[in-house]
Amino acid sequence: MGTTSLDGFRAEVDRLRDEALATLGSAADESALERGRIEFAGARSGRLKAVQKLLGGLDPADRPEAGRLFNELKEAIASAIAAAQGRVAGGVADAAAIDVTLPGEPFRLGHLHPITQTIRRVQEIMARLGFESVDGPEVEDQWHNFEALAIGAEHPARDPLDNFYLAVARGADPLLLRSQTSTVQIRVMERRPPPLRIVSLGRVYRPDTADATHYPMFHQVEGLLVEPGTTMADLKGVLRFLASSFLGGDVHVRFRPSFFPFTEPSVEVDMEWGGRWVEMGGAGMVDPAVLAAVGYDPAAVSGFAFGLGVERIAARRHGVADIRDFYRNDVRFLEQF
Ligand code: FA5
Repeated sequence: MGTTSLDGFRAEVDRLRDEALATLGSAADESALERGRIEFAGARSGRLKAVQKLLGGLDPADRPEAGRLFNELKEAIASAIAAAQGRVAGGVADAAAIDVTLPGEPFRLGHLHPITQTIRRVQEIMARLGFESVDGPEVEDQWHNFEALAIGAEHPARDPLDNFYLAVARGADPLLLRSQTSTVQIRVMERRPPPLRIVSLGRVYRPDTADATHYPMFHQVEGLLVEPGTTMADLKGVLRFLASSFLGGDVHVRFRPSFFPFTEPSVEVDMEWGGRWVEMGGAGMVDPAVLAAVGYDPAAVSGFAFGLGVERIAARRHGVADIRDFYRNDVRFLEQF
């Protein structure tokens, strides 16, 4: 290798720095960056290596200064590579391409489904009257869905065409998707002694044809109060409080004689709001036979129970004409609540 002057070496260093910074600074993606890295800083035949070799041809007196220049060049190239790596990994080709004055990407905030909102609201209102919120399973046995509620083996409500029975192993007890939340009355009374004030809101299932007021999966709100001396007047007072608090304003509650195997007497509950009567559910005084079946003393306590359709009360409150709209998953509908 021929001898090199210090000035010649300095010129070589400057040229390489300019070219390396220009090439690395404009590398648009990872592969361009890698090509640049090999060209300038490659361990075997990189151009930095070639300049390093020139050091040996310098006058020994010039070597300390040349070594310093070389080290500066090496560092400049290393930091240009690091900067380019950060830029390429961030996916931004040019820092100037970020326009900080543009509006940000808005986050789309969701909210609770109107049926969930209704459930929470009813729980809140009932809590003010001391009703504790409880849950029960959606897959039930016949005891809790029927027998303990005095719905005997021959009762038409047990018909396979009116229920979603599950396939179970031969000989095993039949299971079904619960058809009413009254199952929870039994589950709670079996576990706890009176007095009781509970409310349970959840899904129930019936093979009903979907129409404006029916859906095969819907929700019920079940209320149960068992205390000494409970009467139908207490039942009506609680329902009126619930309806007035939920719908707002003065809501009238009307009882029509009806029949449920587990209440005696039994009534259909209608509510009048905004000049229109709507059927909301069933209710009654808990049948003494049901109290006895769970081990309560019917001579010591009495109770009332009610079961209302959650979709129906939500539809009434929001003026929804067809409860199927709650389940079409159309954001334009749901975002109004
Ligand atoms: C019952 O389910 C009783 N368990 C109610 C009850 C509880 C009576 C406690 C006495 C004591 P019923 O089958 O009528 O009753 O249903 C109650 C309410 O559920 C109906 O009034 C209606 O609001 C709602 N409902 C019934 N079927 C559907 C359906 N397919 N879709 C939407 N809501 C329904």
